[in-house]
Amino acid sequence: MKIAMVGSGYVGLVSGACFADFGHDVVCIDKDQSKIDRLHDGIMPIYEPGLAELVGSNVAAGRLTFTTSLAEGIKGADAIFIAVGTPSRRGDGHADLSFVYAVAEEIGANLANDAVVVTKSTVPVGTGDEVERILKDSGTSHKFSVVSNPEFLREGAAIGDFKRPDRIVIGAEDDFGREVMSAVYRPLFLNESPILFTGRRTSELIKYAANAFLATKITFINEMADLCEKVGANVQDVSRGIGMDNRIGSKFLHAGPGYGGSCFPKDTLALLKTAEDYDSPTRIVEAVVKVNDSRKRAMGRKVLDALGGADKARGKKVALLGLTFKPNTDDMRDSPAIAVSQTLTDAGVEVAAYDPEGMELAKPLMPEVTMVDDPYTAIEGADAIAIVTEWDAFRALDLTRVKDLAKAPVLVDLRNIYRPEDLRAAGFEYTSIGRG
Ligand code: UDX
Repeated sequence: MKIAMVGSGYVGLVSGACFADFGHDVVCIDKDQSKIDRLHDGIMPIYEPGLAELVGSNVAAGRLTFTTSLAEGIKGADAIFIAVGTPSRRGDGHADLSFVYAVAEEIGANLANDAVVVTKSTVPVGTGDEVERILKDSGTSHKFSVVSNPEFLREGAAIGDFKRPDRIVIGAEDDFGREVMSAVYRPLFLNESPILFTGRRTSELIKYAANAFLATKITFINEMADLCEKVGANVQDVSRGIGMDNRIGSKFLHAGPGYGGSCFPKDTLALLKTAEDYDSPTRIVEAVVKVNDSRKRAMGRKVLDALGGADKARGKKVALLGLTFKPNTDDMRDSPAIAVSQTLTDAGVEVAAYDPEGMELAKPLMPEVTMVDDPYTAIEGADAIAIVTEWDAFRALDLTRVKDLAKAPVLVDLRNIYRPEDLRAAGFEYTSIGRG
């Protein structure tokens, strides 16, 4: 099969490289000349474990190429994937579809053969209908079908998620679409990955419903964690205790500082907007968005409490360990660390931070924070240390060294990566999440 991937960002590049690895002939397209130049030189635009190697081996095998020309890239393609960004539109929270529609126009103007056009970007219900209208209006004489095929890739684990998915969802309205998509994903059926064929609108909604459900699960356990702190219970045991019930499931029940990232915050908001437009409010998701937003600053206040309260915090120093919204990524989008550091600096606290991958992208988002080169430099002279992201590098800190360097042995663990009894035995004043 020949596949064109329009948009060589996170989703497009990972998907393109994985399709090539399955033996398809893939062209990744992007308007950004410098990105394409760097890809030609083997330099990845994002940090994702295993991606550079996967891209390198498939380029060497001649199955993966890059171009800035959409017209050239889609020539002869059986399937043309649209994998461009759908950020939150400024002001109203709707998904901004201008990039998707611009690509659809360009595909319509340049289609040189019959092809299936696939939306891989996360797009609100009805976007496929609009892409179809744009292609029809282009007057193309070639046969086409518009299909929805959402991605469920986690940053940091994207290649594994692509190659061994829990399921593949394909929303198609005709046999042409279903047949081409079956051929595209055949290598995965052979891995026995379940495939679900649905209507196009259903498939578009599945993506939002999945992310909103996962965001709800996290927010639910976060509220249970708050309650645990008040009643003297342990949220990790509550998670285990409810997660062993197969109907609930044990994943995504890890309490923390609130979800962030490029998907959950944007997709929950966009779902609310769709629900409003169709006069079918999703009140549970509304509550999830509000609770999660306020939680991030509340985590900053938790650190202030560890310093003895906001009124005593001015002039004190806090070491923040971890800035990205989760480990194994350099992504800072909607990371809880932004609100935590803002709450601290607003209270006059001096903040020094270290993150293994995120500092470049974090700098402009937290100009008042001093970025340092390793965790121990951040800890030097600190009145409190806060672990915000659970990078492996923070799981085995040299506690004796930490105690020697810090001004006070105060540790706020927003990811519960230490055991309270161990830290207390080591002489720390230790606060965590939901372990009252
Ligand atoms: C998510 C979805 O998992 C993926 O299927 C979708 O396609 C894109 O959005 P991602 O944003 O990469 O992927 O991150 P994920 O690992 O799902 O974590 C999202 C956020 O939830 C992070 O901030 C993480 O720290 C938080 N989280 C996750 C928790 O606080 N507790 C958990 O138990 C799980």
